[in-house]
Amino acid sequence: MTHDREQREKLEEKWRPATRMARGGVRRSSHGETNEAMFVTSGFVYDSAAEAEARFKGEKDGFIYSRFGNPTVAMFERRLALLEGAEACMATSTGMAAVYASLMSQLRAGDHVVASRALFGSCLYIVSDLLPRYGFDVTLIDGTDLNQWRAAFRPETRCAFLETPSNPGLEIIDVEAVAEMAHAVDARLVVDNVFATPLLQPTLKFGADIVVYSATKHIDGQGRCLGGAVLSSEGFIQEKLLPYLRHTGPSLSPFNAWLLLKGLETLEVRVERMCVNALKLASFLENHDSVERVLFPGLQSHPQHALAMRQMSAGGSVVSFSISGGKSAAFEFLDRLCIIDISNNLGDAKSLITHPATTTHQRLKPEERAVLGIGDGMVRLSVGLEDVRDIQDDLSQALGS
Ligand SMILES: Cc1ncc(COP(=O)(O)O)c(C=O)c1O
Repeated sequence: MTHDREQREKLEEKWRPATRMARGGVRRSSHGETNEAMFVTSGFVYDSAAEAEARFKGEKDGFIYSRFGNPTVAMFERRLALLEGAEACMATSTGMAAVYASLMSQLRAGDHVVASRALFGSCLYIVSDLLPRYGFDVTLIDGTDLNQWRAAFRPETRCAFLETPSNPGLEIIDVEAVAEMAHAVDARLVVDNVFATPLLQPTLKFGADIVVYSATKHIDGQGRCLGGAVLSSEGFIQEKLLPYLRHTGPSLSPFNAWLLLKGLETLEVRVERMCVNALKLASFLENHDSVERVLFPGLQSHPQHALAMRQMSAGGSVVSFSISGGKSAAFEFLDRLCIIDISNNLGDAKSLITHPATTTHQRLKPEERAVLGIGDGMVRLSVGLEDVRDIQDDLSQALGS
């Protein structure tokens, strides 16, 4: 393996995704370790005062302080950027830190933001509560309706934000069409790509300017740590995001970065298996008498199935479905499960299930949940890596058949 960084980076760009995930971004120390080293250090020392000055001025390469950058974190950032096909990546302590930084690093008071309303509860809180409090003008729309996007964009719109598939309603938004409208008014499109993962949906290729992840989900995928990432052009990262993150400090810890690097090595095999399992379970649930409705982008019955299949290479690993009998029936069903755990995380090796109306979206008023299609009988299943027959048996016994 070449030790010259520039040469190595050129080589990495020729690699196919699986090789990028296993080997991308490696910075081997002088010890020649096979496994990436964990640099658990807050600071770095300099050979001289002049060296410190040169690094601070950016005249010389090298780490300064782990809030600004760290070798293990840099390996994770580089590996994820290679996988996404992005010019640059910055890791954050959580997915929410990534979402917040991707917006706050670029907005100025008075700017207009358009966002799809079908969002994870905390993302919705940022756009509907926090941004207006700081003087940003926000328009929330039904993101599946391109006419609503068209009507919402205006000359002072600087940013559009969406999730596709959305949490938990699994709505699909046409990224290419929205990106085109955003660019027509000189706004940037930010996409939360958590449900699709970098493997199923190449969001930047569809014209998105910035893509954000909760690395807590499939990237770790083993329930071990929190993390996030923002990927974009070198220009956006250097000019907007880097100063914002450096000075506000939601940095990823080297330990978590190391776990996430290990997560990327197996991401493809895990996501592939989860998607196969999820499709099987969605089909099973769709034919079950106690289930009123199944939402899964990979099923033909999904309202945006054709768009989903154009934009994504598989339906994903999350299936949302509604149980006949509302909240009490949904709670009874959850409490009867023996393998699937009741937990609001997702993308994990273990199948997890949650009742969005009383957990991730409990903050919303019933009428707001109704607009998002989050009924009292809805549950969101994150399909894991267990034998799918065991998960199906567990669902079956809990549904009472
Ligand atoms: C779509 C989406 N975006 C962002 C987040 C936030 O991620 P984190 O929990 O890592 O802050 C989540 C978490 O559930 C999510 O589902």
